[in-house]
Amino acid sequence: MLLNSSGNETLQSETVGSANDIFRELAQHLRNDAEIGPAVAKAHKVQQSELRFLDMAEALAGFIRHNFRLKPTRFHDFVFGSGQLTPDELAGGLIFYGKGRCGICHNGPYFSDFDFHAIPFPQAGFGKNGFGVDYGRYNVTLDVDDLYKFRTPPLFNVTKTAPYSHSGSLYYLSEAIKVHVDPLGDPRAIPADARQRADFYEVLKKWSHAPMAGVELSDGDIKQLIAFLGALEFESDEAVRELN
Ligand code: HEC
Repeated sequence: MLLNSSGNETLQSETVGSANDIFRELAQHLRNDAEIGPAVAKAHKVQQSELRFLDMAEALAGFIRHNFRLKPTRFHDFVFGSGQLTPDELAGGLIFYGKGRCGICHNGPYFSDFDFHAIPFPQAGFGKNGFGVDYGRYNVTLDVDDLYKFRTPPLFNVTKTAPYSHSGSLYYLSEAIKVHVDPLGDPRAIPADARQRADFYEVLKKWSHAPMAGVELSDGDIKQLIAFLGALEFESDEAVRELN
């Protein structure tokens, strides 16, 4: 938005002063905008010339709250209403909460404990720490205990959001699930590069204390888990009802 502002180079430096200038400049854009400006002014019941940066921030927050709200799923209809699941979905759910131990981390209203864990997903690309390595949460906390840990992702619509993991390294849900319980199952998972292999070993060490290490899942179990995850897709927009 600021590309066309005169002096935008000074605005790109990270100082408190430049942050204030950016807020001021963006608010000015909004006051002059012919399309968004009137809509935001109307929503806040003020003149467009009185709009402040905060009004834009609140409009964006409202947009995010609306678009990212939880919507009903067939799982929700099954648990709280009279909806039905197929036998495979039901069997997958029992594995999810039972022997698969998925619910230990993927739990709560978002199917995430919002905590950090080391799952031996392969790393795609250069990685935040270079040469195929990403130290994960450690990069933020600098606590060695957090090395290679990533936040548990929510699982709504996960059937539609390939590729998987923090670096998008796996394309299939079956692979993403398998890596949780059998990270060495696919020999291609073992990195050829010595440094990456040493890092992979560290991830495995952390993972070996995780609740699902040692869990055995057959191909049939994984198919049923995928069927269950399909029941976590948000129902179509026409069918959206507010959850409370
Ligand atoms: C110890 C906690 C933990 C358990 C138990 C667990 N997961 Fe995960 N799961 C994670 C974390 C953390 C990630 C993200 C790791 C990463 O990106 O490096 C993840 C990622 C995933 C993903 C990829 C999601 C995406 O959007 O990329 C799927 C699918 C998934 N888990 C399903 C399962 C299933 C099915 C089970 C049970 C067999 C399970 N998980 C058990 C913590 C866990």
